[in-house]
Amino acid sequence: MIATATRPLLEIKDLSVDYLTDRGAVRAVDRVSLEVQRGEFLGVVGESGCGKSTLLYSIARLLTPPAEIASGDIWFDGHDLVSMSDSELRHYRWKQYSVVMQSAMNALNPVMNIGEQLRDAFDAHQRFTGRQITARSEELLRIVGIDPVHLRSYPHQLSGGMRQRAMIAMALAFTPELVIMDEPTSALDVVAQRSLMLKIKQLQREFGFATIFVTHDMSLVSHFSDRLAVMYAGQIVEIGETARLFAEPKHPYTVGLMRSFPSIRGELQPLAGIPGSPPDLARPPAGCRFHPRCPKVMDRCHMEEPEFYAEEGDLIRCFLFDSDA
Ligand SMILES: Nc1ncnc2c1ncn2[C@@H]1O[C@H](COP(=O)(O)OP(=O)(O)O)[C@@H](O)[C@H]1O
Ligand code: SF4
Ligand SMILES: [Mg+2]
Repeated sequence: MIATATRPLLEIKDLSVDYLTDRGAVRAVDRVSLEVQRGEFLGVVGESGCGKSTLLYSIARLLTPPAEIASGDIWFDGHDLVSMSDSELRHYRWKQYSVVMQSAMNALNPVMNIGEQLRDAFDAHQRFTGRQITARSEELLRIVGIDPVHLRSYPHQLSGGMRQRAMIAMALAFTPELVIMDEPTSALDVVAQRSLMLKIKQLQREFGFATIFVTHDMSLVSHFSDRLAVMYAGQIVEIGETARLFAEPKHPYTVGLMRSFPSIRGELQPLAGIPGSPPDLARPPAGCRFHPRCPKVMDRCHMEEPEFYAEEGDLIRCFLFDSDA
């Protein structure tokens, strides 16, 4: 076993996830491997329908039928998350890792005020006195920039930005090592997005948790993430240091994404730099999955599937970087 200090916080190896549908298995995550270090901010980007949320749900072990992990390993701090029992998971989730979803409106209970929801979370996971819970809840709201008077507010009484902050407060309740965030700002207007993003980054620096942050908006992660993973059609097609990836994107899909930051709200808007849209994952194209849209497509791309090629510390799934070719 690798020593704790050097072991990545999260290690995913060859993870594949299927949705078992009437039309057959839809492989939404295909042989994804990645590592997240302690305190690292990993951005995951890609158009809608590329498997970003499915990847996050599988890491958090929150997949529900018809989705299932088909193969692969997920190691959290040396513990096997895939084979972990539900009772072990209950202990792990919240304390070791927590999840912030796109819409707090769906995640929060509409008939309980914020204080009651925090109290529920504390009661389920730790023995605290009522007074300790109140003090900790107030502290948590202050940490995310909400006046503690809002412990008495119901979700519908808060703005979208405040609801997301309340979700983040809950996610931090037990100071986890990893916070998994699925487009946490995407339901907000531009100003609220920006302010929430700054808050997330500040909290991450302060508390030192690692983050996997999913978005379809490249500009959002450009300043905040240490590394970026670019997903296309269920696969990671490029992964590397954010600054380098922005300075010199390598995979033709990354190049296209960079050229055409999708508008903040227009998730379904086609990318100006890349005509077409991601494939139906029930029937992905043969060869390189990006070949029908790729401006650099070559003969072999139609039939052969590229593996990862390493260049300057990045990994790129594209034959253009096959040094043997
Ligand atoms: N409930 C479902 N049933 C069947 N297929 C699904 C379901 N949810 C997602 N998928 C498939 O998984 C793919 C990836 O979805 P998702 O992980 O939500 O992508 P993203 O978060 O990148 O938009 C979709 O394109 C779709 O083919
Ligand atoms: S492998 Fe071929 S089709 Fe795929 S991204 Fe590279 S050049 Fe384009
Ligand atoms: Mg999604």
